Amino acid sequence: MNNHCGKLTVIGAGAMGYAFAEGVIRQGLCEPKSVTVSDIDASKLSFASTRLGVSTTHDNKEAVKGARVILIAVKPSVVPIVLNEIRDALQSDQLLISIAAGVRLAAIESRLPPQSKVIRAMPNIACKVGRGAIAYARGSVVEEEDVKTARTVLEAVGLCVEVPENLMNAVTGLSGSGPAYVFVLIESLADAGVRLGLPRDTALTLAAQTVLGSAHMVIGTAEHPAKLKDLVASPGGTTIAGLDALEHAGFRSAIIDAVKAAAARADELG
Ligand SMILES: NC(=O)c1ccc[n+]([C@@H]2O[C@H](COP(=O)([O-])OP(=O)(O)OC[C@H]3O[C@@H](n4cnc5c(N)ncnc54)[C@H](OP(=O)(O)O)[C@@H]3O)[C@@H](O)[C@H]2O)c1
Repeated sequence: MNNHCGKLTVIGAGAMGYAFAEGVIRQGLCEPKSVTVSDIDASKLSFASTRLGVSTTHDNKEAVKGARVILIAVKPSVVPIVLNEIRDALQSDQLLISIAAGVRLAAIESRLPPQSKVIRAMPNIACKVGRGAIAYARGSVVEEEDVKTARTVLEAVGLCVEVPENLMNAVTGLSGSGPAYVFVLIESLADAGVRLGLPRDTALTLAAQTVLGSAHMVIGTAEHPAKLKDLVASPGGTTIAGLDALEHAGFRSAIIDAVKAAAARADELG
């Protein structure tokens, strides 16, 4: 079996940590025995071991030994505790990827030995189904080979792009929080269908598939969304009537405001 990302250690086996462990195994990037998962919660370790066949431990320091990549997937407030635990066990060739929201590269690097290789990433909840949108920023000493390795791990659960770290809060507002906005959009479309007489499950299926198909068109055609919108809005037709109603309701500015508000909140929390 391929082992493109080398041995992986995941610290924190919650929603995200589990998704990454599952993703690298599902993609054939790591054999289950090459993945070590560490957590303070025995039930999460037992779940990961049973479902994925990974090695497990409660000991974060022990967990990092021999790993090529260490993924930090604990809550932001726990990151300093974990870094203090593992710092003396870290080797200079190991790559640490933190997905903790709002925890800056400088804060991570300052708790680790000099020359430690760190990448900060911001995933979203869709990583749980292998369709995440992930942005990452590189630390001060990572090399191209490390970035390549990090991308291999991140791409196991979605699509990834690099950004300068100062844009991470913008990413948080857009793709980090974005699934929630889209869930509300899907729910609203489905409610509208029900209001017009469609059965709930039919309305929900049509709503979700409409969002999925539209996203595929944007990515697959690489066309500007405005051009795709124009394609479906024939003169005097139904779609332009719907778009007219959206403009009256301030749909675009509501979305822009949502992203700005979430980014501002990320800034406050950071
Ligand atoms: N979930 C998302 O959609 C999302 C999106 C973007 C970024 N993130 C980031 O991803 C990180 C993980 O989020 P999550 O939703 O997966 O959190 P989570 O479900 O709470 O998972 C964190 C896990 O870490 C465990 N833990 C706590 N202290 C630990 C320690 N000292 N050593 C090892 N494990 C420890 C927790 O155990 P207990 O539950 O017993 O405390 C829990 O099992 C966070 O930093 C978050 O900001 C999450």
